[in-house]
Amino acid sequence: MTKTQTKALNPIHWDDSKESVFVIDQRLLPYEYKEIEINSYGEMAKAIKDMIVRGAPLIGIAAAYGMALAAKTGADLEEADKLLGSTRPTAVNLMWALDEIRLLRSSKPQNLYSAILEKAKWIHEDDINRCKKMSEHGAEYIKKKFAAKIANKQKLKILTHCNAGALATGGYGTALGVIRKLHEEALVEMVYSNETRPRQQGSRLTAWELAYERIPVTMISDGMAAHCMKTQMIDLVIVGSDRITANGDVANKIGTYQVAIAAKHHNLAFYVAAPESTIDRSLESGDLIPIEERDSSELHTINGELVTAAEGVAFFNPGFDVTPNELVEVIFTEQGVFNPKL
Ligand code: MRU
Repeated sequence: MTKTQTKALNPIHWDDSKESVFVIDQRLLPYEYKEIEINSYGEMAKAIKDMIVRGAPLIGIAAAYGMALAAKTGADLEEADKLLGSTRPTAVNLMWALDEIRLLRSSKPQNLYSAILEKAKWIHEDDINRCKKMSEHGAEYIKKKFAAKIANKQKLKILTHCNAGALATGGYGTALGVIRKLHEEALVEMVYSNETRPRQQGSRLTAWELAYERIPVTMISDGMAAHCMKTQMIDLVIVGSDRITANGDVANKIGTYQVAIAAKHHNLAFYVAAPESTIDRSLESGDLIPIEERDSSELHTINGELVTAAEGVAFFNPGFDVTPNELVEVIFTEQGVFNPKL
């Protein structure tokens, strides 16, 4: 490792000597970096539900390790599958990973525990490889699209929403993976990170992750995005996704849809980066995606403390929204670059 390189963030890992899983407690970032040990599938289900681990690909990986923990202790695997699958409804990677484990179980391997553990490790490793490939496709596409600007020695100003980085995946990132690739080629002037209320994944996680990697980052609050676009502070937008339906509609963190509308209005490219495991071809359109509704405390408190609304006020707290395919220029996956309208 050279002086300028940082150690890659590792949001989850299996410890062979302890036969348990360690995860970064993402609720504590950026104030505290703490890993916690998970010993049972019940603890893993709670970690996913409470958003100790979050981000679509990462919760799929976490659920797969959860199934390995269930097999290790001889727990009822049907029960474990049901509990883990019920933790968060929108990100389809969770169901995808559990389907992979179910398929393996149906082949009746001799040693179920070691077979499930191997599969979980493969799902983890496979996600890192997928993210790296998609990031290369994304960076190549963006370099071509902005060739004139780049030839003019100008760098790119990029807006992102929520956290689609190492912390949301096996350890590389989707949208932030593409940004990292562009940064490696010295093509990034600034990343604008939307705060992402109510849970602030943008300020607490994305800004922290980019600063950790020494990628220039400026945090803005969600309501500032259109202003920054209008005043030419932004060249392009790139986000991750929790579920993409057959017609190319994109579910992602609440607030993404209005960013996409603002990008369209200002004639800015809006890109989505996601692995194939995020694509749900069983659903025709985004209208069919179940949208998680979270506790209202996320709205009227910050870090569980500050009350930000008067008593008697009602709250509505959907965790995700759906961006229609016509607002998305292209989607980057590990397979290449896709026009969601086709
Ligand atoms: O509620 P979260 O933090 O799990 O939501 C995460 C997002 O919406 C991410 O943008 C999405 O999962 C893409 S992650 C590569």
